[in-house]
Amino acid sequence: MSKIEIQLPDNFEFFTDRIIERGWVGEIGKNKQDIKGAVSKMEARTLATIILQHNCQKSFETGVANGISTLAITQAIALTNGHHYGIDPYQFTYHKGTALSLLAEHHLLSYFTLCEGSSHLEAPKLLSEHDKFDFAFIDGMHTFDCKFIDFFYADKLLKIGGLLVFHDCLLPSVKKIFRFIKTHKKYSLIATPELQPNLQAKAKYMLAAFIKGKLYWHEWHNDFCNLLVLQKTCETELPWYHFEDF
Ligand SMILES: C[S@@+](CC[C@H](N)C(=O)[O-])C[C@H]1O[C@@H](n2cnc3c(N)ncnc32)[C@H](O)[C@@H]1O
Repeated sequence: MSKIEIQLPDNFEFFTDRIIERGWVGEIGKNKQDIKGAVSKMEARTLATIILQHNCQKSFETGVANGISTLAITQAIALTNGHHYGIDPYQFTYHKGTALSLLAEHHLLSYFTLCEGSSHLEAPKLLSEHDKFDFAFIDGMHTFDCKFIDFFYADKLLKIGGLLVFHDCLLPSVKKIFRFIKTHKKYSLIATPELQPNLQAKAKYMLAAFIKGKLYWHEWHNDFCNLLVLQKTCETELPWYHFEDF
């Protein structure tokens, strides 16, 4: 299994670090919000590392929210002179435009397009209007049906060799999708050893699974990391009747 070593260029000021330390986004007196449910500093650095190491130029994500992952991805994509698309139905309602404020604060707006709407409506537009993508980050709605739709379109949108990253791979919905991918698609898993939680956290996860009576112990696909990084190795052509339980 290949692995990622988180490494950003020397003298690279990675904006996401400072914003996560600051703890809030938006503009004071206008749309200031505390950061919630975002990727961690190291996860953000992993996203940027992947984009730079693979020279990704076209990327999209589901679940923009306060724009923490969006900032990390867009800053890296700006370096490759590429473009990033972000799908989210709630940017101007619940999230008060904070992701766009964050990109404006860092002069990155020209590298980003907001696709305002749910992924089941916006992802098909990307598919009909664009060539293949190099990178996809899935972090929108976390129910199985929505996540599966995100994966369905990401798989169609990604070129061979493209990178697919799921956040929250410790959630049962993502674990189930990964089982589907393993049984029905051709992707290779890339390990992220630097994102591994400590032993105490691992023990806590296992205990929680045990108490819930779930046999999730064998399903810590990426060593208890909450990010699942996959690379598409080829298109899948299956017979029309194919089905394998997952
Ligand atoms: C966990 S947050 C994303 C965090 C963000 N990636 C970050 O690191 O800052 C998930 C977001 O997905 C968005 N969302 C909800 N339903 C969605 C849908 N059907 N399609 C796309 N995004 C959705 C919501 O705005 C929600 O806040």
